[in-house]
Amino acid sequence: MEVIRPLFIPVLLGTARKGCQSRHAAQLIMQELQGRAGVEAELIEIAKMGLPSDDSGEAIKDQGFSASMERADALVIVAPEYNHGYPGLLKHVLDSCLKEYIHKAVGIAGVSAGPFGGSRVIESLLPVLRELGLVTIFWDVNFSSVQNVFAADGKLLDESFIRRIDKFLNELIWMAKTLRYGREQVR
Ligand SMILES: Cc1cc2nc3c(=O)[nH]c(=O)nc-3n(C[C@H](O)[C@H](O)[C@H](O)COP(=O)(O)O)c2cc1C
Repeated sequence: MEVIRPLFIPVLLGTARKGCQSRHAAQLIMQELQGRAGVEAELIEIAKMGLPSDDSGEAIKDQGFSASMERADALVIVAPEYNHGYPGLLKHVLDSCLKEYIHKAVGIAGVSAGPFGGSRVIESLLPVLRELGLVTIFWDVNFSSVQNVFAADGKLLDESFIRRIDKFLNELIWMAKTLRYGREQVR
């Protein structure tokens, strides 16, 4: 019988801000990923990577992050909206790898205090991800007014997010399987 390798899908918590609400969003997506058969997940916190700030790109590659991206079939980026864009540290971390990302699926969860669910950070990230060789899916998760979505302890207050994350992950997993097939079988 054929043994099917689990998909490996890291979740990148894209901010180093102390007390960030994006942590709750990342943990919820992790929980939903871990509940899926045939999926392994890992939470990667950019705050813990400690990348140097006196250089950029692959010159400052973190071996652990590089290995996770190499092994990944897909990536979830949890991105808070800061002044209508992405946190600078998230871009710094993403820039540290390149070939590791090629033909891997990526989905974005935008997080904002305002009503637009991080749609502006999502739009600003899309061209960056494309340039890195990642393949973006056409579904996002939008945590708008995130302060009303989670309690201070991270408890989910709006159960509709379970359904939204489910739809997002269905699409991400479909793309991850399709691209794995392509990477391994299509010449
Ligand atoms: C530097 C900075 C800029 C921000 N800019 C925006 C913004 O443009 N739009 C918005 O809705 N919220 C903005 N916020 C609020 C965040 O979206 C809010 O803190 C939310 O919880 C997500 O960020 P967090 O994960 O750091 O908590 C900003 C927060 C910071 C720290």
